[in-house]
Amino acid sequence: MEKVIITIDGPAGAGKTTVSRAVAKELGYTYVDTGALYRGLAVVVRQQNVDPGDDEALAAICKDLDLSLVPGVEETKVIVNGEDITGQLRTPEISMTASAVSARPLVREWLLGIQRDLGAKGGAVFEGRDMGTVVFPQAQAKFFLVADPSVRAHRRHQELQEKGLAPTEEEVARDMEKRDRNDSTRAVAPLKPAVDAILVDSTQLNIGEVVGVILGRVREIVS
Ligand code: DC
Repeated sequence: MEKVIITIDGPAGAGKTTVSRAVAKELGYTYVDTGALYRGLAVVVRQQNVDPGDDEALAAICKDLDLSLVPGVEETKVIVNGEDITGQLRTPEISMTASAVSARPLVREWLLGIQRDLGAKGGAVFEGRDMGTVVFPQAQAKFFLVADPSVRAHRRHQELQEKGLAPTEEEVARDMEKRDRNDSTRAVAPLKPAVDAILVDSTQLNIGEVVGVILGRVREIVS
């Protein structure tokens, strides 16, 4: 089977990470979590106490930052100036800051090249918000994963609990709604399905079923 680019976009908590990983594993593809780039930048922005809306300060950070993604089977590592900061990426504060910096056009422009380089050889599953619309508009197989907000909040709450983080499900739902609103209403590369994306609703499906639907469609497209 030809090695193509598969894009999986969608809102927070729709199951993109688990599904993208499983699809990549099944096909022997690289899995790339692009949200990790925005989260990596968010860690630095918070460390330096910078306002995520301050373009001048953001530009100064981006100019000198050596930010790279190291795709892996299970997770995408983020290296900042030689230091592995992967363990710091998944907190509610970093989620919100990542969403805020991701609305800045200069940040998106800066991260575009890094993402496209990772896809240069094909054979990769890219997870994000604008993979099918902006970063890889020519991708052969595009998916947009959705699920009811209450189901997404419940899943994300469970994930955070497993990590020992303690927000309530209501707080998770509120944060998620705010982040989705930021991500889908920003002027540049808003979260939305590409016109040629296949919509998959995971509200009533388990992970295995979603992966099955996606693999089935990929095989139809690529064969
Ligand atoms: O997928 P995630 O939750 O790790 O992403 C964190 C934030 O990064 C998300 O709220 C919006 C932003 N993001 C983006 O704008 N474009 C992407 N391709 C991936 C993430």
